[in-house]
Amino acid sequence: MRVLFVVWELDPFLKVGGLGDVASSLPGALRELGVEIRIALPYYRALHLRMVRKYEVNKFHVTYDGRDEQVTILRVAHPITRVPVYLFKNNRYLNESKFPDTYAFFNKAIIEAIKKRKISFRPQIIHINDLHTGLIPLLIKNYGLEIKTILTIHNLSYQGETNEIILDKLGVSKAEALIQKTKKGNRQVNFLAEAIRQSDLINTVSPTYSREILKEKFGAGLDGILRLRKKDLYGILNGIDISFSTLLHAKYVKYPFVYNGILKHFYDWETGKRYNKRFIQHRMGLKVSGNIPLFAYIGRFDPEQKGIEVMYQMLNQGAIKKYQFIILGAGKEEWEEKYRLLCSFNPEMVSCHFVFDTGLAQQIYASSDFLLIPSKYEPCGLIQMIAMGYGTLPVAHRVGGLSDSIKDGVNGFLYTNYSAPNLRKAMDRAVKIWSERKEEYKKMVEAAIRTNFSWKKSARDYIRLYEKLLASSSKDGESGQK
Ligand code: GLC
Repeated sequence: MRVLFVVWELDPFLKVGGLGDVASSLPGALRELGVEIRIALPYYRALHLRMVRKYEVNKFHVTYDGRDEQVTILRVAHPITRVPVYLFKNNRYLNESKFPDTYAFFNKAIIEAIKKRKISFRPQIIHINDLHTGLIPLLIKNYGLEIKTILTIHNLSYQGETNEIILDKLGVSKAEALIQKTKKGNRQVNFLAEAIRQSDLINTVSPTYSREILKEKFGAGLDGILRLRKKDLYGILNGIDISFSTLLHAKYVKYPFVYNGILKHFYDWETGKRYNKRFIQHRMGLKVSGNIPLFAYIGRFDPEQKGIEVMYQMLNQGAIKKYQFIILGAGKEEWEEKYRLLCSFNPEMVSCHFVFDTGLAQQIYASSDFLLIPSKYEPCGLIQMIAMGYGTLPVAHRVGGLSDSIKDGVNGFLYTNYSAPNLRKAMDRAVKIWSERKEEYKKMVEAAIRTNFSWKKSARDYIRLYEKLLASSSKDGESGQK
C-alpha cells in the first residue's frame, strides 16, 4: 500500500505545534507496519536541514496565477524514522508560509508532480492534514486522477478562508467547490471545508473530538458540513514516539529517572522527582520546598483554545498563595504581558517563560507534580501523554483527546464545565491526594507511567482506514495505480 503523507510542518525540520510531532512520528509507525509511505513538505527557507543529505529529484514547471513557476523537488530521509521526504522548492511561493498562495501552490505542485511523473513514487492514497493541504482532493477530481484521499483534522478552528480568486489562480473549475458569500458580499472558498467535502474519508485525532465537532458548540461553523459526512468520519487517538521521548528525557533532565521502565538505571521516580523539583525551584527563583505542590503549564498562549484566561482567573483567585506554578509557552502578546505582571509580583510562587523550548519543557515535566491543561477544546493534546510518562499527573478539562487519554482518579484528574472555580476544585482534589493520601498518589503516578501511548495501536487503525479506501476503489471498478 503506497501512501503520500502531505503536511505543512514536520519536526525536526520545522515545528509549530503538535501536528509537527505527529507528522514526525506517525509515518514512521506506519512504515514499521509495512506501509510504503513518503512525506511531502514545502521547502521553506527556515527548514533545519543541516543534519540530512539532500538529493535533487527533478525540476519542472507549474502554472499558477498565469505564470510558469519553476519547482524543484528534493529528497531527504527523516532523521529519526528514515521515511523519505519530498521537499518542494519554489522561490516565489514556498520560501515562507503565507496563506493562501503558499498552500494553494504547494497543493497544485504535488498533484502535478504525480500526474507528470516527476516523482517515481505512485501513491494510491494521499493522506492530507488540516487546511494547508485542503485543496488536494479538489485538484485530484479536477485532474481526473484515480487516487484516494483521507483528511486528518488536527484542529477545526483554523480553516483558511479566502477569496474565490484562488481557484482561478489554480486554474480549477469552480463548479465543484463550495463558494460562500460573506456579509460584505465577498465570494469565498474555505480550504478546510473543501477538504471535508471532497476527501474520501475523514478522521480527527481522537474519538471524542470526532463526536464533539458534529455539534454547534465545537463545530466552528463547519458542523453542518461535517454532519453530511458523518458516516465517513472517524476518530483515532494520536500516540507519541516513546523512544524519542526517552531520548529527550535522558538528554535534558538534570536527574533522569525511570521512564516507562526503559531507563532502569537512573533514579526511581520518587527520588528523581524530588531532586528535580528542588533543582528547578532553585533555578527559577521559586521558594524551595518539597511541601508546596508544583503545577506546570506547557503550551501555546492561545486564549481561544488553551484556556489561559481561565487559568489566569484561577491564579488571581488565590491559588498562588498556596500552590506554585511554572508557565512555559509563547503566543498572544497581551496575554504574555498579563502573566508577566503576575510573575513579577509573586516571584516565589509563579515563574513564567515565554519561549518555545523543548529542553526546558522536559525539565519542567520531570520536576512538576501536576500538569494543568485547562483547554476549552482539545482535538487530541500530546502534553498529557508526555507528562504521564514523567509521572506528572494531568489536571485537565474533560474534552476531546484529553477525555480519551486520561482516566479520572486513575492516572490523572478531569473536570467538566469550563471555568476557573471548576479548574481550582480539580486542583484541590489532586493536591489532597498528593498530600494526605500518599499511597493512592503513588498508585496513580505508577499507573500514569505505565499508560501506553505508543503509536502502534493507532497506526493499525489508520491502516484499517487505508484498506477501506483501497477496497472502495476496487468496488468503483477503478484500477487504482499499481
Ligand atoms: C493540534 C491540536 C492538538 C493535537 C495536535 C496534533 O495542535 O490542537 O490537540 O494534539 O494538533 O494532532
